[in-house]
Formats: sequence, C-alpha cells, structure tokens
Amino acid sequence: MDIDGVEKLIRPELMTMRGYDPVEPIDVLEKELGTHIIKMDGNENPYLCSPRATQILANFPYYHIYPDPLQRNLRKALSSYTGFSESSIVCGNGSDDLIDLVLRLFVRPGDEVLNCPPTFGMYPFTVGVVGGTIVNVPRRDDFVLDMAGIRAAKSDKTRVIFIASPNNPTGELVSDEEVLELLGMGLVVVVDEAYFEFGESSAAGLVAANPNLIILRTFSKWAGLAGLRVGYGLCHEKIAGHFLKIKQPYNVNVAGEAAAIASLEDVDYLRANVERLKAERNRMSSELAKLPWMRPFPSSANFVLCRVAEKDASGAVTTARRLRDSLRKRGILVRFYETPGLRDCLRISAGRPEDTDALLTGLVEAWNEA
Ligand SMILES: Cc1ncc(COP(=O)(O)O)c(C=O)c1O
Repeated sequence: MDIDGVEKLIRPELMTMRGYDPVEPIDVLEKELGTHIIKMDGNENPYLCSPRATQILANFPYYHIYPDPLQRNLRKALSSYTGFSESSIVCGNGSDDLIDLVLRLFVRPGDEVLNCPPTFGMYPFTVGVVGGTIVNVPRRDDFVLDMAGIRAAKSDKTRVIFIASPNNPTGELVSDEEVLELLGMGLVVVVDEAYFEFGESSAAGLVAANPNLIILRTFSKWAGLAGLRVGYGLCHEKIAGHFLKIKQPYNVNVAGEAAAIASLEDVDYLRANVERLKAERNRMSSELAKLPWMRPFPSSANFVLCRVAEKDASGAVTTARRLRDSLRKRGILVRFYETPGLRDCLRISAGRPEDTDALLTGLVEAWNEA
C-alpha cells in the first residue's frame, strides 16, 4: 500500500482538521533571537515551582517504577487542599487531559458541544479530535456569556458546554447564577478553573447538588508546574469513577505526581508568588491604561487582555500584530490571536516587576516603530 492509500484510511475529518497552534520552545527562540527571552505569552509562572518540588525530584528514588494508576497519594493530598473527597477527584496529564476525558466520556461522533469564544482553543481542538461538532455561541461585546444565545443554540444533540472561569483570554469570572442556569439546561457543564488561585472564585461549591457539573483545575499556573503536566477534576464520585476507568492508566507520571504533592505541602510559599503576580498584574494593567492606544480589560487571572488602537488604516496586518512582532525582536513574547474579534488584541501574562518594566518600555518603542 502506498502512503496515499494509508491516508485514505485516516478519519476524513482528521485529514482536513487544523492542528493546535504550537508554541516555540524557549531554547529555540533564545538561539534564534540571540537574546534573553521575557516570556509573557503562555500564562506560566515566572517564579518557578516550589523549591520543595525541585528537591523531591532531585532525590526521587522511583523513576524506574510505573506510576499509581489510581493516583492515591495525589488524590489524598488534593482532598485536603480542595475539601472534596478522594473519590470525587481525578487527576490528568494537565487539565488538557481532563478536557479530552470529558469529551471521550460524553461525546459521540456527531454530538454537539457548546463553546463560548473568545475562549481557550483546546475546547474546539479536542472536540474535533473526538469527532464531535462544536457549536459556537460568541460572548457579548463585554465578554459576558450570551445566555439567551446558549439557550437557543442547545439542541437534542448537545451534550457538554465548556466555560473557562476566569476565562482565557478575556479574564472574567462566571457567576454562580450563570452556572446554575446552565446546569438547569440538562447539559454537562464544565467550569474550567485553570486560574482559580488568581481569582479565588469557584463554582466548586455547586458540585454536591449538581452531578452534571465538572470543575477542572491545574498545577500549571499557580504552582509553576506547566512543564510537568498535572491537572485535576472535581465532580460527582460516580463520574470520577468513569474517568478513572477510561483514562490512560499512567496519565500522571511519577515526577508530576511527586512535584504536585510537594507543592501542596508548600502552599504558603506558592500563594505568596500568586499574590506577587496579582499585584504585578494590577500594576501592569494600570500602567497600560495610561497609554492612550491600549485598553486593558479587567482580569481575575495571571494575564491581561488589551485592545490596541489601529495606528493607521493599513488593512490586513493589524497594529496589535506589528506590536507583537516588534516586541518579539526585543525578546519580549506576548500573545497575539489570528482570530476574528481578537486581531486587535494582545494578551500579556503577568511577570516579575522587571518583566513589566521591560514590557512597558518595549511597548512604547514598538508603538513608535509600528
Ligand atoms: C482555561 C485553560 N484551561 C486549561 C489550560 C491548560 O492547562 P494545563 O497546563 O493543566 O493543561 C489552560 C492553559 O493555558 C487554560 O488557559
């Protein structure tokens, strides 16, 4: 069989599917740009992970042994951190893995999933991979959910709705009232709280009375473990049981599990870093607001979305994109979206005070050049 014949056997919807936009690794970028990189494009934690996690990993004696498929130690530690019973918790290879698990548990090819853009790109990507159909209900101009639109978009085929809170990239929270209204529509409601520790508002209190609610969280942001890939879900224990049943047995590796447990033993240290990032997010926001051509939106996460005024009527290439490119040449990375409604925006992750200072200086230079 030639390669064309093999490709004909691939699921047609995956043959034509667009992949997830990959980010460039920092070492490759440093080599290419020949400068130190200030990374404000990935909502990562510039204060690194807990020193306890680093120490545990340096001396870890069991790298040669498979992980515990039931994640007992991590789920126990998470039970103390979240107040949920161990049986209501399931861990994943980042919360991305849990997004995948939700879709594999509930969505058959042809089923519909509601998505409220602008939001996290992994929802439509993963729905595409499982053969589901994404139904977009765009947020209103102020990025608040369009509840009437959601109600109208729901059909007999709709199984799941994803809501990120705080939302990425817009930064605002969903209210309990909105979540309750969604729960009442008879859907599986996923509230993705990847940035929970920066906003301190959660729908988790609604899980006990609502078995159709699933909360997703991660160690990537507050605990600085993005590279080790550890996330978790909080839900009814029967749903957690189904997730445990269908997940890859070793989805959380031993290093990730050990580092996550060490982080939960060092919560005060990590919370202090979260406080630093929140303060810096607020300072960055108020400094950006002083630039007449930048309009930052309020954020409950570790990033700020800004609308950039068009400097001239140059058409296809927006000023936001030119600013992104110009900052990149200076070694400062910010996130630009080639998405309708966001092409005039930049999302900037909170950094250390020196990162904010470099960003503000670089931004003014970039604007003058753009
Ligand atoms: C809303 C949202 N959910 C989930 C994730 C993914 O988190 P993880 O690193 O745990 O896969 C992100 C990462 O940027 C995110 O913004």
